[in-house]
Amino acid sequence: MPPAVIVSELAKVINEKIIVDRISFTVEEGEVFGLLGANGSGKTTTFNMLSGLLAPSSGSVMILGKNIKELAKLKMEIGFVTQEDSFYETLTVRENLEFFASQFGVPGRVAGERVKSLLSQMKLSDKGGVLASKLSGGMKKRLNIACSLVHDPKVLYLDEPTVGLDPVVRREIWAVIEELHRTKKTIIITSHYMEEIEHLCGRVAIMFAGRIVDSGTPADLKKKYKLKQMEDVFAYLVKPVVQ
Ligand SMILES: Nc1ncnc2c1ncn2[C@@H]1O[C@H](COP(=O)(O)OP(=O)(O)O)[C@@H](O)[C@H]1O
Ligand SMILES: [Mg+2]
Repeated sequence: MPPAVIVSELAKVINEKIIVDRISFTVEEGEVFGLLGANGSGKTTTFNMLSGLLAPSSGSVMILGKNIKELAKLKMEIGFVTQEDSFYETLTVRENLEFFASQFGVPGRVAGERVKSLLSQMKLSDKGGVLASKLSGGMKKRLNIACSLVHDPKVLYLDEPTVGLDPVVRREIWAVIEELHRTKKTIIITSHYMEEIEHLCGRVAIMFAGRIVDSGTPADLKKKYKLKQMEDVFAYLVKPVVQ
């Protein structure tokens, strides 16, 4: 089976600044793939191009055999959990999910079932009638993820899913992502937490200044650089450039 996601020589230049520098990687169907990089390394810009929000300067993105340029054909296949919450604070949990379902044109009866199962999957079943603004940090994150799943996409992007969350809530979100993996979704996660990437991802690409400096399984990378910790591999690969 061909990879679910094929990124080839993808680049973005904004105001003559190279933000993403000809990156290439593939993600197999059902795989959890990690883009690891410090703030400003180009992860969100990459996701914006992988979801069709931002046109590449050059290179290509193929999702499930279709070019991202044919966005209309891929809209229902891609879910994008942005770093900032995309739900509405003034709507209840259920109203938010129903709103996003209608935005994606999910037919009423299907939407009803989907909302119900997402509430259960995200452990929000008893929160359906609660205003989103009243939720705890972890619940908001789970609602944000649920809003990106109402159209049951095959491919899911999670942009820094646990940034700013306490360690307990972070583990709750990890459990949610592991559950999504079990449902065979193809998942790409960005993070700057080594531990998170190592826990969740089969393979990882390390980004630095818009480039992928290396990729592979955490175990292979540690072996290649003869280092015991991913932290050390990361530090070795993203050494500050001496001017
Ligand atoms: N629209 C834009 N205009 C100018 N600079 C941008 C724009 N978008 C991103 N950048 C810059 O590109 C770099 C990478 O940003 P981003 O993709 O958000 O990185 P990350 O998500 O890894 O933190 C940053 O230096 C950021 O300031
Ligand atoms: Mg970002």
